[in-house]
Amino acid sequence: MSVRTEQSAIDVMKARGSVKKYEPGVEIPEEELREILELAGRAPSSWNLQHWKYLVITSREMKEKVLPIAYNQQQVVDSSATVVILGDLEADKNFETVYKPAVDNGTLPQNVYDALHGQVEAAYQNPQLARDEAILNASLSAMQLMLAAKAKGWDTCPMGGFDKKKLTEVLNIPPRYIPVMLIVIGKPAAPARPSSRIPVDKLIIRESF
Ligand SMILES: Cc1cc2nc3c(=O)[nH]c(=O)nc-3n(C[C@H](O)[C@H](O)[C@H](O)COP(=O)(O)O)c2cc1C
Repeated sequence: MSVRTEQSAIDVMKARGSVKKYEPGVEIPEEELREILELAGRAPSSWNLQHWKYLVITSREMKEKVLPIAYNQQQVVDSSATVVILGDLEADKNFETVYKPAVDNGTLPQNVYDALHGQVEAAYQNPQLARDEAILNASLSAMQLMLAAKAKGWDTCPMGGFDKKKLTEVLNIPPRYIPVMLIVIGKPAAPARPSSRIPVDKLIIRESF
């Protein structure tokens, strides 16, 4: 069942669940996939560096290759697409792409650009920070992807159960990127199993521990 576009963000959040069984053989139209990924890319990110890439797998051949790497989780082959969410370990290299247009159109003074650039480059001297930022920011985009997909009538399942080293080898992922998670997208053959949540009162800490 597709979620009507007029449904609110709250409806979509409540309706999303991790679907594990998909109708095989359903193709996701390229424009819909693009739109979902475009929405995923509207996620916020530190310094707006947009630390993500989406490696999209739709061919039977590649899905079969990923299946054993994902410990034979069948949703990888039965879903319409498996998206590898990649975190960018060198997101500082996006700086110019993101900020230069604003300098060129006069909305960002060159000295502010230079100061910000210096700040980013100093931070990226620390590989642990670069890795933390890659995972943190790519995860925000991953969540947005799942909600965008649900809003457009597609179900998803985020997956951390895969061999990161093997996936990197088989998909030729360059050292600049790390696979953060897989997200399968498709039409459900069975609904998501109901999942419980810890009551919100147990999650809230006021002011300080
Ligand atoms: C980072 C992450 C990794 C996950 N890995 C897997 C996985 O490998 N296989 C799977 O079937 N579900 C996986 N899940 C789905 C969780 O089991 C699911 O989100 C959780 O049980 C809550 O259910 P819900 O998403 O339906 O609300 C993963 C979820 C997250 C966020």
